Amino acid sequence: MLRLLTTREDLDTLLDREDLVLVPTMGALHEGHLSLMRLAREHGRKVIVSIFVNPLQFGEGEDFDQYPRKLVEDMDLIGDFADYLWAPTCQDIYPLEVESKLEMIHANSEIADKLCGLSRKGHFDGVCTVVTRLFDFVKSSKAVFGEKDFQQLMVIEDMVKRYKLPVEIIRGPMIREGCGLAMSSRNQYLSDKERKTAANIYKYLKEVASGALTIDHAREIMISLGIELEYLEKHWDRLFFAGKVGQTRLIDNINTGS
Ligand code: PAF
Repeated sequence: MLRLLTTREDLDTLLDREDLVLVPTMGALHEGHLSLMRLAREHGRKVIVSIFVNPLQFGEGEDFDQYPRKLVEDMDLIGDFADYLWAPTCQDIYPLEVESKLEMIHANSEIADKLCGLSRKGHFDGVCTVVTRLFDFVKSSKAVFGEKDFQQLMVIEDMVKRYKLPVEIIRGPMIREGCGLAMSSRNQYLSDKERKTAANIYKYLKEVASGALTIDHAREIMISLGIELEYLEKHWDRLFFAGKVGQTRLIDNINTGS
Protein backbone atom coordinates (compact mmCIF):
# COMPACT_ATOMS: atom_id res chain seq x y z
CA MET A 1 0.00 0.00 0.00
CA LEU A 2 1.18 3.50 -0.87
CA ARG A 3 2.62 5.44 2.04
CA LEU A 4 2.68 9.23 1.91
CA LEU A 5 5.88 10.75 3.25
CA THR A 6 5.68 14.39 4.12
CA THR A 7 8.67 15.31 6.25
CA ARG A 8 12.41 14.73 6.06
CA GLU A 9 11.99 12.62 9.21
CA ASP A 10 9.52 10.39 7.33
CA LEU A 11 12.12 9.96 4.63
CA ASP A 12 14.78 9.11 7.16
CA THR A 13 12.71 6.12 8.31
CA LEU A 14 13.26 4.43 4.96
CA LEU A 15 15.58 1.55 5.32
CA ASP A 16 17.07 -0.65 2.68
CA ARG A 17 17.96 2.17 0.32
CA GLU A 18 20.00 -0.27 -1.72
CA ASP A 19 16.73 -1.70 -2.97
CA LEU A 20 14.99 1.64 -3.39
CA VAL A 21 14.33 3.17 -6.83
CA LEU A 22 13.34 6.82 -7.18
CA VAL A 23 10.98 8.16 -9.85
CA PRO A 24 11.25 11.98 -9.68
CA THR A 25 8.21 13.82 -11.08
CA MET A 26 6.42 17.13 -10.94
CA GLY A 27 3.03 15.43 -10.52
CA ALA A 28 -0.06 15.58 -12.77
CA LEU A 29 0.79 11.97 -13.34
CA HIS A 30 -0.23 9.98 -16.41
CA GLU A 31 0.42 6.64 -18.07
CA GLY A 32 3.94 7.76 -19.02
CA HIS A 33 4.83 8.15 -15.35
CA LEU A 34 3.23 4.79 -14.53
CA SER A 35 5.46 3.14 -17.11
CA LEU A 36 8.49 4.65 -15.31
CA MET A 37 7.19 3.21 -12.04
CA ARG A 38 6.74 -0.23 -13.62
CA LEU A 39 10.32 -0.03 -14.84
CA ALA A 40 11.47 1.08 -11.39
CA ARG A 41 9.79 -1.98 -9.91
CA GLU A 42 11.85 -4.20 -12.21
CA HIS A 43 15.01 -2.64 -10.82
CA GLY A 44 14.36 -2.69 -7.08
CA ARG A 45 12.08 -3.97 -4.36
CA LYS A 46 10.73 -0.57 -3.30
CA VAL A 47 9.62 2.33 -5.49
CA ILE A 48 9.49 5.92 -4.26
CA VAL A 49 7.88 8.65 -6.35
CA SER A 50 8.63 12.29 -5.62
CA ILE A 51 6.27 15.07 -6.62
CA PHE A 52 7.71 18.55 -6.52
CA VAL A 53 7.03 21.40 -8.94
CA ASN A 54 10.47 22.94 -8.94
CA PRO A 55 10.36 26.75 -9.29
CA LEU A 56 14.04 26.89 -10.25
CA GLN A 57 13.48 25.21 -13.59
CA PHE A 58 10.74 27.57 -14.77
CA GLY A 59 11.68 30.82 -16.47
CA GLU A 60 9.88 34.12 -16.36
CA GLY A 61 6.56 33.96 -18.22
CA GLU A 62 6.52 30.14 -18.13
CA ASP A 63 3.72 28.06 -16.61
CA PHE A 64 4.96 27.60 -13.02
CA ASP A 65 1.77 29.08 -11.54
CA GLN A 66 -0.59 27.21 -13.87
CA TYR A 67 1.33 23.92 -13.71
CA PRO A 68 -1.30 21.31 -12.69
CA ARG A 69 -1.08 20.28 -9.04
CA LYS A 70 -3.25 17.22 -8.34
CA LEU A 71 -1.89 15.42 -5.32
CA VAL A 72 -5.12 13.59 -4.45
CA GLU A 73 -5.69 12.33 -8.02
CA ASP A 74 -2.00 11.47 -8.29
CA MET A 75 -2.18 9.36 -5.13
CA ASP A 76 -5.23 7.51 -6.47
CA LEU A 77 -3.50 6.85 -9.76
CA ILE A 78 -0.27 5.59 -8.28
CA GLY A 79 -2.09 2.98 -6.17
CA ASP A 80 0.11 -0.10 -6.12
CA PHE A 81 2.65 1.21 -8.62
CA ALA A 82 4.76 2.73 -5.86
CA ASP A 83 5.43 2.05 -2.19
CA TYR A 84 6.13 5.63 -1.14
CA LEU A 85 5.09 9.04 -2.34
CA TRP A 86 7.23 11.92 -1.19
CA ALA A 87 5.70 15.35 -1.75
CA PRO A 88 8.10 17.87 -0.22
CA THR A 89 7.36 21.56 0.14
CA CYS A 90 9.57 24.27 -1.29
CA GLN A 91 10.85 24.92 2.21
CA ASP A 92 11.90 21.25 2.50
CA ILE A 93 13.91 21.41 -0.71
CA TYR A 94 15.19 24.97 -0.48
CA PRO A 95 15.14 25.91 3.22
CA LEU A 96 15.07 29.67 3.58
CA GLU A 97 18.29 29.83 5.53
CA VAL A 98 20.08 28.01 2.73
CA GLU A 99 18.26 29.81 -0.07
CA SER A 100 20.10 33.07 0.54
CA LYS A 101 23.28 31.30 -0.51
CA LEU A 102 21.65 28.80 -2.80
CA GLU A 103 24.33 26.96 -4.68
CA MET A 104 23.18 26.13 -8.16
CA ILE A 105 24.44 22.97 -9.80
CA HIS A 106 25.32 23.81 -13.39
CA ALA A 107 24.49 21.59 -16.31
CA ASN A 108 27.23 20.74 -18.79
CA SER A 109 26.94 23.53 -21.36
CA GLU A 110 27.92 21.21 -24.22
CA ILE A 111 24.67 19.35 -23.70
CA ALA A 112 22.51 22.07 -22.19
CA ASP A 113 23.25 25.09 -24.41
CA LYS A 114 21.22 23.92 -27.37
CA LEU A 115 17.64 22.82 -28.07
CA CYS A 116 15.54 23.63 -24.96
CA GLY A 117 18.51 25.30 -23.30
CA LEU A 118 18.39 28.15 -25.84
CA SER A 119 14.85 29.28 -25.13
CA ARG A 120 14.77 28.19 -21.48
CA LYS A 121 17.82 29.90 -20.04
CA GLY A 122 18.89 28.36 -16.74
CA HIS A 123 16.30 25.58 -17.04
CA PHE A 124 18.79 22.73 -16.90
CA ASP A 125 20.71 24.33 -14.02
CA GLY A 126 17.38 24.36 -12.15
CA VAL A 127 16.84 20.70 -13.02
CA CYS A 128 20.37 19.72 -11.93
CA THR A 129 20.01 21.63 -8.66
CA VAL A 130 16.71 20.01 -7.68
CA VAL A 131 17.67 16.54 -8.84
CA THR A 132 20.87 16.65 -6.78
CA ARG A 133 18.79 17.54 -3.75
CA LEU A 134 16.23 14.82 -4.42
CA PHE A 135 19.06 12.28 -4.72
CA ASP A 136 20.67 13.61 -1.58
CA PHE A 137 17.48 13.35 0.49
CA VAL A 138 16.18 10.04 -0.83
CA LYS A 139 19.53 8.28 -1.21
CA SER A 140 18.10 5.57 -3.45
CA SER A 141 20.61 3.46 -5.34
CA LYS A 142 18.76 4.01 -8.62
CA ALA A 143 16.53 6.60 -10.29
CA VAL A 144 14.41 6.47 -13.43
CA PHE A 145 14.10 9.31 -15.96
CA GLY A 146 12.02 9.23 -19.13
CA GLU A 147 13.39 9.50 -22.65
CA LYS A 148 10.59 11.94 -23.46
CA ASP A 149 12.83 14.61 -21.91
CA PHE A 150 15.88 13.25 -23.67
CA GLN A 151 18.06 16.34 -23.32
CA GLN A 152 17.25 16.42 -19.60
CA LEU A 153 18.18 12.75 -19.37
CA MET A 154 21.56 13.42 -21.00
CA VAL A 155 22.18 16.41 -18.73
CA ILE A 156 21.42 14.28 -15.65
CA GLU A 157 23.50 11.32 -16.79
CA ASP A 158 26.40 13.70 -17.38
CA MET A 159 25.93 15.36 -13.96
CA VAL A 160 25.92 11.99 -12.19
CA LYS A 161 29.17 11.08 -13.93
CA ARG A 162 30.89 14.44 -13.33
CA TYR A 163 29.95 14.64 -9.64
CA LYS A 164 30.34 10.88 -9.12
CA LEU A 165 26.88 10.70 -7.54
CA PRO A 166 26.15 7.25 -6.08
CA VAL A 167 23.04 6.61 -8.13
CA GLU A 168 22.41 4.57 -11.24
CA ILE A 169 20.25 6.26 -13.89
CA ILE A 170 17.72 4.05 -15.65
CA ARG A 171 16.27 5.25 -18.96
CA GLY A 172 12.50 4.92 -19.37
CA PRO A 173 11.21 4.61 -22.95
CA MET A 174 8.77 7.23 -24.19
CA ILE A 175 5.04 6.49 -23.97
CA ARG A 176 2.59 7.94 -26.50
CA GLU A 177 -1.13 8.47 -26.64
CA GLY A 178 -3.11 6.48 -29.24
CA CYS A 179 -2.80 9.38 -31.71
CA GLY A 180 1.00 9.38 -31.37
CA LEU A 181 1.27 12.47 -29.15
CA ALA A 182 4.06 12.03 -26.59
CA MET A 183 2.50 11.80 -23.13
CA SER A 184 3.05 14.91 -21.05
CA SER A 185 1.41 16.58 -18.08
CA ARG A 186 1.05 19.64 -20.33
CA ASN A 187 -1.18 17.77 -22.84
CA GLN A 188 -4.14 18.57 -20.61
CA TYR A 189 -3.80 22.24 -21.63
CA LEU A 190 -4.70 21.28 -25.24
CA SER A 191 -8.18 21.72 -26.73
CA ASP A 192 -9.53 18.89 -28.93
CA LYS A 193 -8.59 20.81 -32.06
CA GLU A 194 -5.07 21.52 -30.76
CA ARG A 195 -4.66 17.88 -29.81
CA LYS A 196 -5.40 16.87 -33.42
CA THR A 197 -2.80 19.34 -34.67
CA ALA A 198 -0.28 18.11 -32.07
CA ALA A 199 -0.76 14.51 -33.22
CA ASN A 200 1.00 15.48 -36.47
CA ILE A 201 4.27 16.07 -34.66
CA TYR A 202 5.05 12.37 -34.28
CA LYS A 203 3.81 11.64 -37.81
CA TYR A 204 6.39 14.00 -39.31
CA LEU A 205 9.16 13.00 -36.90
CA LYS A 206 8.71 9.43 -38.11
CA GLU A 207 8.78 10.51 -41.74
CA VAL A 208 12.05 12.36 -41.27
CA ALA A 209 13.54 9.48 -39.26
CA SER A 210 12.64 7.01 -42.03
CA GLY A 211 14.16 9.24 -44.71
CA ALA A 212 10.78 9.89 -46.41
CA LEU A 213 11.00 13.63 -45.69
CA THR A 214 13.81 16.14 -45.22
CA ILE A 215 14.02 18.13 -42.01
CA ASP A 216 13.45 21.34 -43.97
CA HIS A 217 10.32 19.99 -45.59
CA ALA A 218 8.97 18.72 -42.25
CA ARG A 219 9.59 22.18 -40.74
CA GLU A 220 7.56 23.80 -43.51
CA ILE A 221 4.69 21.35 -43.09
CA MET A 222 4.60 21.76 -39.30
CA ILE A 223 4.50 25.54 -39.62
CA SER A 224 1.75 25.33 -42.26
CA LEU A 225 -0.30 23.23 -39.81
CA GLY A 226 -0.20 26.07 -37.32
CA ILE A 227 2.55 24.68 -35.09
CA GLU A 228 4.74 27.49 -33.77
CA LEU A 229 8.00 25.70 -34.36
CA GLU A 230 10.87 26.35 -31.96
CA TYR A 231 13.23 23.70 -33.29
CA LEU A 232 13.34 20.56 -35.37
CA GLU A 233 16.95 19.47 -35.25
CA LYS A 234 19.09 16.39 -35.26
CA HIS A 235 21.60 15.92 -32.44
CA TRP A 236 23.39 12.76 -31.39
CA ASP A 237 21.28 9.91 -32.81
CA ARG A 238 17.96 11.72 -32.37
CA LEU A 239 15.66 14.16 -34.04
CA PHE A 240 14.34 16.72 -31.54
CA PHE A 241 11.20 18.81 -31.73
CA ALA A 242 9.91 21.70 -29.65
CA GLY A 243 7.07 24.01 -30.52
CA LYS A 244 3.84 25.51 -29.38
CA VAL A 245 0.37 24.35 -30.31
CA GLY A 246 -1.88 27.17 -29.17
CA GLN A 247 -0.35 28.30 -25.89
CA THR A 248 1.06 24.87 -25.03
CA ARG A 249 4.74 24.16 -25.46
CA LEU A 250 5.38 20.55 -26.45
CA ILE A 251 8.57 18.57 -26.95
CA ASP A 252 9.21 15.25 -28.63
CA ASN A 253 12.10 13.22 -30.00
CA ILE A 254 12.72 10.11 -32.02
CA ASN A 255 15.69 7.85 -32.57
CA THR A 256 17.01 8.20 -36.10
CA GLY A 257 19.25 5.17 -35.84
CA SER A 258 22.44 7.07 -36.76
O1 PAF B 1 11.07 15.73 -15.67
C1 PAF B 1 10.57 16.28 -14.66
O2 PAF B 1 9.41 16.05 -14.30
C2 PAF B 1 11.40 17.26 -13.86
O3 PAF B 1 12.23 18.00 -14.69
C3 PAF B 1 12.21 16.59 -12.73
C4 PAF B 1 13.23 15.61 -13.28
C5 PAF B 1 11.26 15.88 -11.79
C6 PAF B 1 12.97 17.66 -11.94
O4 PAF B 1 12.11 18.60 -11.39
